[in-house]
Amino acid sequence: MGHGIAQVSAQVAGYEVSLLDVKQELVERGLAMIRESLARFVAKGALSQAEADSALSRIHPTTDLAEAVGGSQLVIEAATEDPGLKLDLYRRVSDRIAPDSTFASNTSSISITLLGSATGHPENVVGMHFFNPPQLMPLIEIIRGAKTSDATVAVVRGVAAAMKKETVLCKKDSPGIIVNRILVPALNEATLLVDEGVADPEDVDKAIALGLNWPMGPLKLLDYVGLDTALNISEVFMAEFQDGKYRPSPLIKRMVRAGLLGRKSGKGFYEWGSPGSTRPRG
Ligand code: CAA
Repeated sequence: MGHGIAQVSAQVAGYEVSLLDVKQELVERGLAMIRESLARFVAKGALSQAEADSALSRIHPTTDLAEAVGGSQLVIEAATEDPGLKLDLYRRVSDRIAPDSTFASNTSSISITLLGSATGHPENVVGMHFFNPPQLMPLIEIIRGAKTSDATVAVVRGVAAAMKKETVLCKKDSPGIIVNRILVPALNEATLLVDEGVADPEDVDKAIALGLNWPMGPLKLLDYVGLDTALNISEVFMAEFQDGKYRPSPLIKRMVRAGLLGRKSGKGFYEWGSPGSTRPRG
């Protein structure tokens, strides 16, 4: 989601943005998806070519952590939903940012209090959870950790307003916050229907898209979000709530082990086309 958040920050809020990833090829892939998305806005007249070029010129790609976060007033982290990986990143970022910088996480399942504890300034750490694709989805969930200050919440409310997003405030950093607490068990249940042989993926999706008026069925949405992301969230739910109702399905585990992650790997329940595509092939 990082590229979408970077795009909204530059295109809508007009911020100068450093786009950081761990490998050059991942930074390049993110930039390609930003270019494709900007081209779509230009094609339908929502943005002029000059505005698109100017947004792109405000995005500075890098793989150097110190360069990316050094002079920034706000860091938005959208790393893989893995607590160990995030904690290590929080320690490293915390050593390199100014003491009054705001540090926001796009996590939906990992405790903001825990992430804050890995930094020298937990009062500046807050959740800022976007939805895929961030370029189009109008909501940001703001999450308070135990030590998040009112001033930090006010900063991210202001940033969300500059991005022209609506917000809801989650008063406690409960795993999954509001949306994923409801969505991820529903997506997992859809994979169980397939694994148990009750219905084919296309029919599960057709049933929910037409029966509940969802813009995409749950398995297409799972591909869109990433099966690995959903599996990680289910595992955090299992560990935090200690309740078997959040157990990930055997099918989702098998697919992640096989690299069938959905849109990001080109195949999941469906075959996906070029980077940035919102629709599967065929
Ligand atoms: N950038 C710019 N424009 C885009 C775009 C992008 N990345 N993706 C789609 N669009 C535009 C298209 O150009 C198209 O524009 P027009 O209607 O003007 O032609 C429009 O959006 C619709 O796109 P498509 O025709 O390709 O496909 P669609 O009608 O199915 O819409 C969608 C795509 C907006 C993604 C829609 O399917 C949708 O809303 N799906 C559900 C998304 C959702 O539920 N997201 C939340 C996931 S949960 C999450 O993110 C949280 C988490 O932590 C797991």
